[in-house]
Amino acid sequence: MKSSTRTFFLMVSTLAAAATSVFFSPVEAASPPAGKSGSADDLRAAYATPSDIAEGKRVAQASCARCHGIDGIAPANAKGVPHIAGQRPAYLHIELRAYQIGARGENAMDNSVKFLSDDALMKVSAYYASLEPAPPSAAASSAKAAPAKSDPISAGKAAAAGCAGCHGATGVSTTPGMPNLVGLDPKYLVAAMDAYKNGQRKDDMMKTLLAAVGEADIKNIALFYALQKPARAKTPAQGNQAAGKAAAAACASCHGDLGVSGNPATPSLAGQDAQYFAVAMKAYRDGTRSDQSMKAPAASVDDRVVRDMAAFYANQQPQAPKVRKPLTTVELAQRCDRCHGVNGNSTDPRSPALAGQRADYLERVLRAYQKGARKSPQMHAMTDGLTEADVSNLAVHYSRQKPRAFVYVVLPAK
Ligand code: HEC
Ligand code: HEC
Ligand code: HEC
Ligand code: HEC
Repeated sequence: MKSSTRTFFLMVSTLAAAATSVFFSPVEAASPPAGKSGSADDLRAAYATPSDIAEGKRVAQASCARCHGIDGIAPANAKGVPHIAGQRPAYLHIELRAYQIGARGENAMDNSVKFLSDDALMKVSAYYASLEPAPPSAAASSAKAAPAKSDPISAGKAAAAGCAGCHGATGVSTTPGMPNLVGLDPKYLVAAMDAYKNGQRKDDMMKTLLAAVGEADIKNIALFYALQKPARAKTPAQGNQAAGKAAAAACASCHGDLGVSGNPATPSLAGQDAQYFAVAMKAYRDGTRSDQSMKAPAASVDDRVVRDMAAFYANQQPQAPKVRKPLTTVELAQRCDRCHGVNGNSTDPRSPALAGQRADYLERVLRAYQKGARKSPQMHAMTDGLTEADVSNLAVHYSRQKPRAFVYVVLPAK
């Protein structure tokens, strides 16, 4: 068929019909890359003609509709099947080729595209790209809908609510004998809590208190305390600070000159409650708290020196441990949007739109990138540091964004 009509592509905001935004310059779009060379070839589906799209519909009817629907919107009970309506055309084409050569390794899809020509793949891509996208998932209507899982700091704060009575609401102790939990590295806090749980550190009360706290919340609690403002315990410290300072010189190599340790395995002592400090030293000395590094230092000092050191350390200013505040889902999504477009509405025909996609599908492919099962160096790098909660929250976030349609505009024949 002679190409008497040509199309160029633009994306129209379906948010406000009046505010139509054109993301691609018509000049660039109106001159489709010539030839078949490299990535230019990838773009063919973005320049499909109406007749290409009509032929693509026939392919879809024959080979795809039973799973994806003829409207490209996977029914809720079709588990694992993504929506493909309104997805960016070049991306669809690239992925179909990936299935065809087995690079995405998914039986259902590999078999569906195995015997289709590249031309058919291009046309079926254009067909599905031309459709109206699925509506965003239900919760989208309430913009303030809670994320699937709360962020680690809020989760830690909630999990630590029952600890406040002894350790203070923000980990600053006001009760003699209760350790300060601020100014400590989260890794140390996790190790300490695990040690109570597994009985390596003997304290029946702490063991009982932590018995019901899961590993994820242990981490969240540690992060919560690590991000609180460091302050000295608001408890009394008798003892001779000057004498304590002199004696503490022997401890500086591990605990730092002023009790601020740079090593996550060694706790900081600055601002620590004096009574807890003394109890800990006694425990190391009599072996009820066993630790190779502390055995000799604890044996070398008597009660008087311990009291003086306790006073010295209690009066030092604790410092915030080196820990980065994790990004919120919205902050993470801003990074994703650099490639996937504002609110996951990609303006690059090769980059997938995420807006309105099914959360279960998004979650699954994000984990696949993370594990390297679905290959993409960029996406592996982007998902590498994400926690389980980040992945779930991002999936829900994008499923709730309003998708913007991909619109083919027919140009008058030249
Ligand atoms: C037997 C059911 C089935 C049939 C038939 C089928 N698909 Fe799929 N399709 C799936 C499933 C399941 C997935 C998700 C696979 C994965 O995670 O890689 C998928 C994924 C896709 C994707 C990837 C979407 C994305 O966002 O990355 C595209 C594109 C696609 N299908 C297009 C098609 C087209 C075009 C046809 C017809 C030629 C077709 N499918 C036929 C089940 C099917
Ligand atoms: C009834 C008072 C009480 C409550 C409630 C309590 N703790 Fe403790 N906690 C203590 C005491 C006392 C110690 C010191 C035990 C010891 O000597 O090993 C301690 C020690 C700790 C330590 C070790 C500190 C260090 O410097 O090594 C951590 C961490 C800790 N608690 C976390 C928690 C968390 C988290 C909760 C809430 C889930 C909690 N505690 C609830 C009294 C309490
Ligand atoms: C070789 C390195 C090293 C030296 C030297 C050392 N410590 Fe420690 N200290 C540690 C480590 C590691 C721990 C954590 C052990 C554990 O988990 O029980 C610790 C724990 C402690 C604790 C418990 C803190 C808490 O929050 O529960 C106190 C108190 C302490 N040290 C005091 C001292 C004093 C006082 C000296 C000097 C007399 C000293 N340490 C010398 C490595 C050292
Ligand atoms: C540097 C650019 C870039 C950034 C930043 C980026 N992505 Fe991607 N993303 C891509 C590319 C390219 C693909 C297609 C990879 C492929 O072929 O599998 C992709 C694919 C995906 C897919 C698969 C879509 C589908 O329909 O199957 C999801 C989901 C996704 N990205 C989510 C994210 C999230 C969430 C973030 C932020 C944490 C993110 N991306 C950040 C470039 C990026």
